[in-house]
Amino acid sequence: MTGFPVERPRRLRRTPALRRQVVETRLDPAMFVLPVFVVSGTRIRNEIESMPGNCQLSVDELIPIAKEAESLGVGGMIFFGIPETKDEHGTSAWDPEGPVPRAIAAVKEHAPGLVAWADVCMCEYTSHGHCGVLNGDIVDNDATLPLLAKAALTYATAGADVIAPSDMMDGRVRAIRDTLDDSGFEDIAICSYSAKYSSAFYGPFRDAADSAPAFGDRRTHQMDPPNVREARREVELDVLEGADMVMVKPAGPYLDVIREVRAMVDLPVAAYQVSGEFSMVKAAAERGWIDGDRVMMESLTGIVRAGADIVLTYFAIDAARALREGR
Ligand code: PBG
Repeated sequence: MTGFPVERPRRLRRTPALRRQVVETRLDPAMFVLPVFVVSGTRIRNEIESMPGNCQLSVDELIPIAKEAESLGVGGMIFFGIPETKDEHGTSAWDPEGPVPRAIAAVKEHAPGLVAWADVCMCEYTSHGHCGVLNGDIVDNDATLPLLAKAALTYATAGADVIAPSDMMDGRVRAIRDTLDDSGFEDIAICSYSAKYSSAFYGPFRDAADSAPAFGDRRTHQMDPPNVREARREVELDVLEGADMVMVKPAGPYLDVIREVRAMVDLPVAAYQVSGEFSMVKAAAERGWIDGDRVMMESLTGIVRAGADIVLTYFAIDAARALREGR
């Protein structure tokens, strides 16, 4: 074999059937986890302007969506809560009657085929919008750990299958693991947002979850975008602390990090295609500048090709439908 003209890679691209047979990366709806925003009350659907097609939903409105996701084979749902009251310590994060525990219980009842993921962070629950309790202007790491553990325990009690801490405090995986184990939840898994970067791509989410910090930013706990060796260290520590899965977030701009993490651990690797990644596709598609459906599938394929086993994505339902229809 001496290359062209004997070798012609185009031969295997000649027909759709041939291309389908030699495809190297296949998506499966079971990989997808749909993020949802839950509010108290009933019959509430507040559209989120910066995330077309996504709403803040009361639990009753969430159920049909969960059923639809389940029927399309979507793997799971992750819940974010918008509480009725916020305070300095984020105490509503562990209210068993809060929107997230109620959503978890309802989805477990009505769509038991979905894996129920609970995001754990204080930023939706604190009056100042920071990810933990403050000491002056700084989020106090060690004082925040027991609060995260309390929230995690509340979600596990409600029926969560996976606890996913996204706060980026040091030591939180161990703190949550210990609390779950002490309370008889030793079988409930932890997926740590291990390599979570301080990203401008979270912009639309902070509108959706009403969780923007009142002052300052998250750079003293979330990772600095240029760093990848540091991501390895974060993953290593979380595995030592007992994480069952690890996550990279955002996904699309951090494919090299996904690849790196995939190569270093045997645990499942999740990647979060965040709000800004989603909204950019939607906005460009609305203007007719790109084919939204194709960019959706291509962006997800890239994340999986990089090494993600699980993708948290606002496209979960649309992408599952596209797969079912063979698009
Ligand atoms: C923190 C959290 C955030 C996201 C998920 N969990 C926001 C942040 O760190 O500010 C962002 C997700 C997205 O942008 O889609 N609770």
